[in-house]
Amino acid sequence: MKINDFLLERFFAKYEFEVPYLLCASDCESFSIDEILQLEEGAEKKFKKLMLGYTDSQGSPELRETIATLYNNVSKQDILAFAGAEEGIFAFMNIVLNPGDHIIVQFPAYQSLFEIAEAVGCKVTKWTMEPENNWNLDLNVLLNNITAKTKAIVINFPHNPTGSLISQKKYESIIEIAQDNKLYLLSDEVYRMLEYNPSKRLEPACDLYDKAISLGVMSKSFGLAGLRIGWTATKDQILLNKLASFKDYTTICNSIVSEYLATLALTKYQALVERNLSIILSNLELLDQFFNKTPSLDWVRPQAGPIAFPKLIKDFSSEKFCSDCIEKAGVLLLPSSTFLYGDNHFRLGFGRKNMPEALSQLTAYLEDTNSLYSIQA
Ligand SMILES: Cc1ncc(COP(=O)(O)O)c(C=O)c1O
Repeated sequence: MKINDFLLERFFAKYEFEVPYLLCASDCESFSIDEILQLEEGAEKKFKKLMLGYTDSQGSPELRETIATLYNNVSKQDILAFAGAEEGIFAFMNIVLNPGDHIIVQFPAYQSLFEIAEAVGCKVTKWTMEPENNWNLDLNVLLNNITAKTKAIVINFPHNPTGSLISQKKYESIIEIAQDNKLYLLSDEVYRMLEYNPSKRLEPACDLYDKAISLGVMSKSFGLAGLRIGWTATKDQILLNKLASFKDYTTICNSIVSEYLATLALTKYQALVERNLSIILSNLELLDQFFNKTPSLDWVRPQAGPIAFPKLIKDFSSEKFCSDCIEKAGVLLLPSSTFLYGDNHFRLGFGRKNMPEALSQLTAYLEDTNSLYSIQA
């Protein structure tokens, strides 16, 4: 397969571990192995006795059983573990799509949600959201673009990079449209549980529709990206078996070390989510103040998750802005060109403990009267 560069990942490969202040990460503050082992008495002893062999290629029964508790209507046999959410997306696109097929993808989007389909030879319709419209999705656009060749709809709530959500009602309308047209629905739910108002949390798609695939991962809501454990949850057993066969050609199975720690973490997931949400909400207050006093930037305040997608008011290029922030403030922001979404937005990440320090660096740079972006009166 020939595939275009994953622009966000190439950008991170260049800067993530070089720039002092990371202010665009999409994951939450991580936990140490020790912190995870402390979650249960006796876990450390068991962890040290693990035998480092191959594991069950679907994911250990304990892991899948624990993941299934995150849903209302699926059980262990409906879960397939992957190396991150990324592998789940790769497997789904390769299994479901053939050259000449068509998919409709909410846009902007995490690039693999459309790029792999294009590499397979599919036509991709980008279901575009705009900040002027509060990142809303127009259902008519979805309805008008479904053709006989359409195979799947791809959505992502809470959304990367905007932090937006939709109403449960609208979400159910999307599911209904998928159902009426017998389409797969890939629902990327990797930021689920990080809603600022829990009453806005959407139900997992796999609980509502047999041809829906809910995508989950340890990286975002749970702050454990280093485990590289993700999963698909679906009641479509035929699809699940095909995904499992495909995995034989990618990673075969997960690391037992990661599976053990992921299972342990998920048995106490509320504590992890609570810690992460408290960091996010306290950083969000700082961002409210920041945007109030920074008229050169505008944002649609996110509703969930550790990311937002603000806009530069003047006609500044976000690529130039982000490269100046790296060079002059030591702060890493992610330009919207890495999302193929013009050159006017940037992604801001605020799930980390040292975010206040990073934001102070950015503020000092923007307040500097010598800065091109000076916000001094
Ligand atoms: C929406 C979305 N889906 C999937 C992924 C992939 O997650 P992971 O890197 O843990 O595999 C990401 C990562 O940023 C993401 O933002």
